[in-house]
Amino acid sequence: MAILITGGCGYIGSHTCIELLKAGQEIVVLDNYDNAKPEALRRVQELAGKTFPFYECDIRDEEGLRRLFAAHTIDAVIHFAGLKAVGESVQKPLAYYDNNVSGTVTLCRVMAEAGCKRIVFSSSATVYGMSNPSPLKEDMPTGAVTNPYGRTKYIIEEILKDVCVSDPEWTAVLLRYFNPIGAHESGRIGEDPNGIPNNLMPYISQVAIGRLERLAVFGDDYDTPDGTGVRDYIHVVDLAAGHVKAVDYALSHTGVEIFNLGTGTGCSVLELVNAFQEANGVEVPYTVAPRRAGDIATCYSDPAKAEKLLGWKAVRHVVDMCRDSWRWQSQNPNGYED
Ligand code: WQD
Repeated sequence: MAILITGGCGYIGSHTCIELLKAGQEIVVLDNYDNAKPEALRRVQELAGKTFPFYECDIRDEEGLRRLFAAHTIDAVIHFAGLKAVGESVQKPLAYYDNNVSGTVTLCRVMAEAGCKRIVFSSSATVYGMSNPSPLKEDMPTGAVTNPYGRTKYIIEEILKDVCVSDPEWTAVLLRYFNPIGAHESGRIGEDPNGIPNNLMPYISQVAIGRLERLAVFGDDYDTPDGTGVRDYIHVVDLAAGHVKAVDYALSHTGVEIFNLGTGTGCSVLELVNAFQEANGVEVPYTVAPRRAGDIATCYSDPAKAEKLLGWKAVRHVVDMCRDSWRWQSQNPNGYED
């Protein structure tokens, strides 16, 4: 009996593999390497001291998925696989709907054929859109999303809700991530974005290591304490631990359950920059630039439901996230491709 992790070679997937193995779970990993490198899984196996079956396969490859489900008894699926760059999704919407939405439909169809009807889905706070006030709660309205990437997450949530209505044997646990940052304490695995990072923390760490010249702070005129954007940064290892709890929940419940995975605490861009500099004794030069289209001032979670129903709570602080991000970046200046 095993847990299938789609996209298990990626940033959050690789950290989740380690936590599942630590918890004694058997895992099978699938990835198409579209946004991940084989070295990440080699290091996961090194850190966990365990090996596991791996399939280089796209979730749209129906026959490839069938072969995997024929070879292994899969209890539940943690579904990370998908494209996730907000800006790119605006340029290539069809690629995002094909990969993320069609791929998930194919995955669920093959799962059902194989009698596997439990899925933990990697969703995102982006489904809350621009109009809900923070702290964001799971019962708030969703769908008023400003980009195709976020819309694919919203659509997949709705698909999984419909599947659970159609067949009461199904379980779908929808995890809405806030802003995952940080890295495994070993510094051996971490976030390795393709090209110039879109997200704040990898940009900060690449400036600190000298790969990029300076950080552009996208606006300092928001209605926030220091004028810069406020987000709910969560340590990727805390996030991974949330998935271990979520899969246990999926194995013992049916129907749909939605959880915010965040800390419940907001942190501004400048607070994160300053925390990173102080924690690591490095300089992060920055300039203030115009606001980025689609950004909101403030976004942070109410994580109470996950604590109540999953028995999960984030335990790491911003200083831990900064130290662990820097350890990964300084030990791997060019990510997995040294
Ligand atoms: C954080 C803050 C920026 C870069 C996105 C996705 C979301 C999720 C997490 C996948 C904002 C500011 C950023 C920079 C900056 N991804 N910033 N200079 O936009 O909150 O969320 O990533 O699920 O779906 O939307 O994260 O890291 O891009 O930005 O000033 O070079 O940092 O304006 O205030 P975001 P982010």
